[in-house]
Amino acid sequence: PRRVVADVDTGIDDACALSWLAGTGGVELMACTTVSGNTTAELAARNTAAVLDACGVNDVPVVVGNTVPREVPLVTTPETHGPTGLGHAHVPERPDRIADADFLEVWRDALDAPPEGYAGAIVPPTTLLLTGPLTNLADALDRDPDLVERFDQIVIMGGSFDHPGNTTDRAEWNTWCDPHAAARVYEHFTGRPEADLPIVCGLDITETVEMHPAHLRGYCSSAGVPEPRLRPGEVEEYECRLPVLTLLVNALQFYFQFHLDHDGQYIVHVHDLLAAVLIGGRVTFETELVGVHVGIEGDARGATEITPAPAAARRVRHVDSGAVFVDWGRALRSFR
Ligand code: BDR
Ligand code: CA
Repeated sequence: PRRVVADVDTGIDDACALSWLAGTGGVELMACTTVSGNTTAELAARNTAAVLDACGVNDVPVVVGNTVPREVPLVTTPETHGPTGLGHAHVPERPDRIADADFLEVWRDALDAPPEGYAGAIVPPTTLLLTGPLTNLADALDRDPDLVERFDQIVIMGGSFDHPGNTTDRAEWNTWCDPHAAARVYEHFTGRPEADLPIVCGLDITETVEMHPAHLRGYCSSAGVPEPRLRPGEVEEYECRLPVLTLLVNALQFYFQFHLDHDGQYIVHVHDLLAAVLIGGRVTFETELVGVHVGIEGDARGATEITPAPAAARRVRHVDSGAVFVDWGRALRSFR
């Protein structure tokens, strides 16, 4: 199977992505490293450990990476993801699950892990999935660019191309949160061979995918657990026999309400889930080569402007949105 290292700022939609990674077949989650964004990197690690735990995954290392952006002060988003990042979900403290290590060493260990099976078996390709600000990737490029090159694929949720922002008029959250990191990353990839360029899901594509309460009710009923009510203005303390659905329902209730308050619709955009499912090969999508300029200051902070060649990214276009939810449902059904 393809291996994945997930760099996350867990976050409600990061939690959705992690549940897909844990449940989908054909993908081996090797490690999770965290970054500050939706919440602090420390809380993101706690949340990540909790999601993995709810999925029955106890052997994937969880490590705290960079705790502050490169040059700007840290801002988090309790209004979007709740005071500790997972909405109304109860998240136990699991300090024993957080390893004390340098995130870059954890990436290296994942890349160096020997293949399973017979001697001489081929090491599977490894994807680096990033669903938070790009602070850790920019730091890795400074410290060990050759290590970054060893990832066979890099998939990023971030940016907003020819499309409004969700943080300022022009900026998407992950890019706004650490604009210097994003600029460092796109500058690094500019002009590299097409196959080496990161696959980037911006808001222009993630906002075409709408999760409705019916999706979550459907996942619960097909797992044989009670359907959550999920009504605007209501907070239901949801509990069922499946820890992962208990956690996701309580987290997503908060996210539905946030979207209603801000966008006027009781639907959610599961940005990070979309980036994750693209790795699995079951959801078809197209990409387009784009040059990327990241704005740093003032109104331009975090804006991702498309520039002429040379390209810096493979921008995702035209995702099969229905397939995203079918594929996530498949992954969730693996939790019994
Ligand atoms: C991104 O910002 C965060 O709020 C989400 O987790 C996602 O990674 C969307 O702009
Ligand atoms: Ca995120």
